[in-house]
Amino acid sequence: MANESIIETEGLTKVFTVKKTSVDAVTDLSFIANRGELVAFLGPNGAGKSTSLRMLTTLIPPTSGTARVVGHDIRTDAAGVRARIGYVGQLTSGSFSQRVRDELLSQGAFYGMTRRDSIRRADELIESLDLSSFATRTVQQLSGGQKRRLDIALGLMHAPPLIFLDEPSTGLDPQSRANLWQHILDLRTQHGTTVFLTTHYLEEADRYAERVMVMDKGRIIADDSAAALKATLAGDVLTFGFATESDAALARPVIARLSTAEVTLDGDSVSLAVPDGDRLLPVIVRELDAAGILVRRATGVPPTLDDVFLALTGRTLREAGEGDEASETATDTAAAATTDAATTATTGALS
Ligand SMILES: Nc1ncnc2c1ncn2[C@@H]1O[C@H](COP(=O)(O)OP(=O)(O)OP(=O)(O)O)[C@@H](O)[C@H]1O
Ligand SMILES: [Mg+2]
Repeated sequence: MANESIIETEGLTKVFTVKKTSVDAVTDLSFIANRGELVAFLGPNGAGKSTSLRMLTTLIPPTSGTARVVGHDIRTDAAGVRARIGYVGQLTSGSFSQRVRDELLSQGAFYGMTRRDSIRRADELIESLDLSSFATRTVQQLSGGQKRRLDIALGLMHAPPLIFLDEPSTGLDPQSRANLWQHILDLRTQHGTTVFLTTHYLEEADRYAERVMVMDKGRIIADDSAAALKATLAGDVLTFGFATESDAALARPVIARLSTAEVTLDGDSVSLAVPDGDRLLPVIVRELDAAGILVRRATGVPPTLDDVFLALTGRTLREAGEGDEASETATDTAAAATTDAATTATTGALS
């Protein structure tokens, strides 16, 4: 099983045309994912994460490029791919008036499973995703976290070796997120399921994924373990907080004189990534003090994935996602715009 590939993509590209202008949603996506891996696709709003997942799950055709998913070509053998993957879309759905257990059984029927197999599998998933206390409730009576777990159970009904989860934890409270993650990790240990997911949450990707692919503006800009990505930024991030924004603005040039690192001003704080934080931090504090600028806070911490993103793009992930309200709507349109009847049926049942 070791290093057996389960996803192979080569130059996968998607260009949407909206009112005669083209949108480069995904450009030249090429990677190999191995069986059993937990890969997190990280990136701001509009980066192209969902579009990549939609191509890999055969919901939309690529403009160019190829991919093999569980050994089947996404362009020439969509049915072969779909039979071997689970997909949980960004927006939850389900038939709101159906009961949880019936919802799972319908999904089994959709996949052509026998009633007996469906019942056995539904009970197994109800157990492993901790749905038993509300298995007889209707979908609309579930909380966000419970619904998301049901979504994942639906995606796993036919026991696929690979599951795609589009933002499984978005919108959940921290407790439910931690809980959901535990279930995702258990799936891997118990069934060896390969998990390919997208997230906005840096700390989740950092903590749980063994491989992080960072996407920005439709391109993969980094692909490694979180630890390795952070290690590329040797040293520490020093942050100095001030009473006012004008103090921070005054402090910036003072700090810039003491280091060759790029110094970022963000409201009432100033930060920089340096290789020798322990030495530099007190030097900076003394120098600011001498310049008559009062430092309220001074911290030196190892870099986070957000710092990696900042180093790669010059923007923080938070900034990068701002002002892209349109992407959510465009995303919905993408699902609605799929005209292939089989695709629509799959979308409806799987998402
Ligand atoms: N059907 C569509 N028609 C036109 N443009 C689209 C369509 N679907 C997506 N896009 C555009 O493609 C780009 C990538 O969108 P995508 O939904 O893949 O981003 P994302 O990384 O999943 O973002 P989010 O984090 O907001 O879910 C965006 O600029 C988006 O507006
Ligand atoms: Mg998305």
